Amino acid sequence: MDKALKTKTILLVITGGIAAYKSLELIRLLRKNGAKVRAILTKGGAQFVTPLSVSALCEEEVFTDLWSLKDETEMGHIRLSREADLIIIAPASADFLAKMAHGKADDLASTTLLAANKPILFAPAMNHKMWENNATHDNLQKLHARGMSQIGPEEGDMACGEYGPGRMSPPESILQSVLDYFYKRPLKGLHALVTAGPTHEPIDPVRYIGNRSSGRQGYAIAAALELAGAHVTLISGPVNLPAPPNVDVIYIETAAQMLKACKNALPADMAICTAAVSDWAPQAQAKNKIKKQKDLPPPAIALTENPDILQTLCMDKDRPPLMIGFAAETNDLEKNAKAKIQRKKCDWILANDVSNQKVFGKPENHVHFITKHTHEDWKECPKAEIARRLVEKIIEYHDQ
Ligand code: CTP
Repeated sequence: MDKALKTKTILLVITGGIAAYKSLELIRLLRKNGAKVRAILTKGGAQFVTPLSVSALCEEEVFTDLWSLKDETEMGHIRLSREADLIIIAPASADFLAKMAHGKADDLASTTLLAANKPILFAPAMNHKMWENNATHDNLQKLHARGMSQIGPEEGDMACGEYGPGRMSPPESILQSVLDYFYKRPLKGLHALVTAGPTHEPIDPVRYIGNRSSGRQGYAIAAALELAGAHVTLISGPVNLPAPPNVDVIYIETAAQMLKACKNALPADMAICTAAVSDWAPQAQAKNKIKKQKDLPPPAIALTENPDILQTLCMDKDRPPLMIGFAAETNDLEKNAKAKIQRKKCDWILANDVSNQKVFGKPENHVHFITKHTHEDWKECPKAEIARRLVEKIIEYHDQ
């Protein structure tokens, strides 16, 4: 699965506060999501976590000293902010907020922030009386007026034994804010139905008719839709892939089960049918394993046609307003895809030319985006990229 923050560099400033230990977990979460994390540890921060722990988790040198010649030649305070996509201050102590509000620049962290040209998200952490102090509020107003974003603090038991607002937000919430910042979640409130993978149509208890679909494209689309804020129901045939995070996955085996699961999941605002549904199923499943019979010809398997899930959903009284199908074509791609749109009554088709390539299981795909009136060749690219581009199209459609 593609990692949401794969191309992002985060500059994390850790200032002095007991909550600094949570920043170690934040580094881990950011990195797990693919981000490159560079950290500045202030003198106060280093009282709570060691530079070694921070650099071990970042797998990068930790930056501590404005006057370190090595840092200044190799990675000065200007470059630290220029090479970041987002700056997070966590924990942001009362003292550090005051410094920023007054434009002070007496250490590496404050100097870097004064020279920064990147968005700043800060997660305050302090005693509740410090938080409630008018001085802190005045400082916060200044920082908000300069366009900085704040997450937290939360109310709860404090390390000092008192109770009140001032606890740093949990690392998971800070990660969510980071994802929200990069992916504005424009599909929030919408329900997307995605079918993926093959179907297995049983012949007897041990044999089935199936196909080579890996499910990768459908899983990538489900993940990209979720990242854009949609509530995603993924109806999946048997595949060897981990469930995408925060997606409701319903596992099925046969086309009939897939159709039933899709209908149960309605209403939806969109359906993306990527599944390679078997066109036929054995008319009846043998109760026991079919045995070889000496001197008899191999058994004939009578087939029956499976329901067309895409077409059925397109005709349903609860038809999702946006219906998207896939098509594998070897010739006359545009003509065939447009005929398929007509026949199945869907809105868009992603068609792949399978005349001279093997698509199944490959991380890349070459598709054409086809609607009743348009045709775009998306050239060969990773399936995650196709998912991202399709989600962009869906966002445009909803913005209209
Ligand atoms: N589809 C479906 N249910 C089926 C068969 C297909 O939902 N029983 C969906 C697929 O998920 C895909 C599209 O319909 O979105 C593909 O249609 P299909 O007619 O199977 O296209 P091709 O595989 O390209 O086959 P053909 O050209 O033979 O029609």
